[in-house]
Amino acid sequence: MRDRDIPLGLTFDDVLIIPRRSSLTSRKEVSLKTRFSKNIEIQIPLVSSPMDTVTEEAMAIKMARLGGIGVLHRFTTIERQVEMIKKVKRAENIVIEEPYTISPDATLGEARKLSEKLGVSGFMVVRNGKLEGILSRRDMLFQPNDTLVKQVMTPQERLIVAKGDISIEKAKEILWRHRIEMLPIVDEQWRLKGLITVSDILNKLRYPNSARDRKGRLLVAAAIGVRGDVISHADKLIDAGADALVIDVANGYIDLVINTVKKLKQEFPDIDIVAGNIATKEGAEALATAGADAIRVGIGPGSVCTTRIVAGVGVPQITAIMDSKEGAEPYDVPLIADGGIRYPGDIVKALAAGAESVMIGRLFAGTDESPGKIVLKNGKRFKVYRGMASFYARLARKTREMGEVELDRDIEDYAYTSEGVEAFVEYTGSVEEVVNRLISGVRAGMAYVGARTIRELWERAQFIRITNAGIRESHPHDVHTI
Ligand code: XMP
Repeated sequence: MRDRDIPLGLTFDDVLIIPRRSSLTSRKEVSLKTRFSKNIEIQIPLVSSPMDTVTEEAMAIKMARLGGIGVLHRFTTIERQVEMIKKVKRAENIVIEEPYTISPDATLGEARKLSEKLGVSGFMVVRNGKLEGILSRRDMLFQPNDTLVKQVMTPQERLIVAKGDISIEKAKEILWRHRIEMLPIVDEQWRLKGLITVSDILNKLRYPNSARDRKGRLLVAAAIGVRGDVISHADKLIDAGADALVIDVANGYIDLVINTVKKLKQEFPDIDIVAGNIATKEGAEALATAGADAIRVGIGPGSVCTTRIVAGVGVPQITAIMDSKEGAEPYDVPLIADGGIRYPGDIVKALAAGAESVMIGRLFAGTDESPGKIVLKNGKRFKVYRGMASFYARLARKTREMGEVELDRDIEDYAYTSEGVEAFVEYTGSVEEVVNRLISGVRAGMAYVGARTIRELWERAQFIRITNAGIRESHPHDVHTI
């Protein structure tokens, strides 16, 4: 029997949060610490989307420095994904355990290529595991490509090194006293054991709120699919240092995803597995009982999503979060509200509805840290942002997998079955500024309801439904904004 009593689904614009008496004296008293997944704590409730126009290493590094976490996308080769994870894990590692090395017999041409690929400016010069010198950017300046590394490096006899364990304070003192940027750690036989750099120390001081693992390295998650050899793929990502794996598919309420969660948890019990996407209580329950450590909520709310238009399926995001919360809460599994965030106020609403963090694509896609170049259009600066189920994203994926593609039925089908669009988003500068703006709004929202923590926000927030007149009243109105 068709139920004529159709429930109402609400989204961000349909609701506001009612102000409550507050004992907070400053917004600084608000703590934004939260859980990304059962065992991973982050300092701010922001996660960047696993999309090829949003999260690669630069975004993941900055997100973790700012206290959130980035999920590296999976629309590339496994080798590239591994390389991205390693780069995040090396960034700001106070002691780099495996510094990048080069042979003394290599040429500067080779060194320059490697330096560009790895994004580092200097190398430890090593032969048979022993440190013979350091090659810095300054050593390479103005020298032709066929010069050998050993001809221009700072040789062993002129190196300042630390032997054995060393405290950061002591390292700082040595770096300052000798006005050097890199301090290699070696043993008595000059075998290279690690490296401390000035830039890592400075970054740690600059970002005191960063999200880190037990070894003090920046946190990072990596997306994974459900087809092919998932276990060996997961193994490589974990081996590279991923803190969590995110099963990244449009519809998470299917047997394939549920079984993949079970398999991954069985194989890698110590790694947090995030699963999704779902938008209902039953969906959340299914993933939670399968063993998921966090659940991504959102079917079609994203700015470049067309799932609801193409398939007619979805749940408005506030209702989706509230319903999913009912399913996940008994298992204490955190929810990540994924998609549709336009303003800081939307984040407060998503958290108040029961999420522990929000995932963002569009607002981060226009920043310096997202992949892709700035394009000029009518005198304005833009970056490209595309849904991962959009026509061109799918075409790019197929081309990568098959080498070359012909216009076949599959591709013709893409035109009808794609569930996302390609778009321009305005260039917005550094993601740090975007994050700071969002976070200020979240603090303000929590202060209005007297919530010191996200848990208190769950307890204290009361929603009120509004009408179109309410939305109009909420935005600036009846003025000409300057
Ligand atoms: P925002 O609104 O932040 O949303 O841009 C980002 C989220 O959108 C989802 N996503 C898609 N959904 N078709 C969809 O229906 C797509 O092609 C697509 N690409 C991304 C994804 O959950 C992301 O985090």
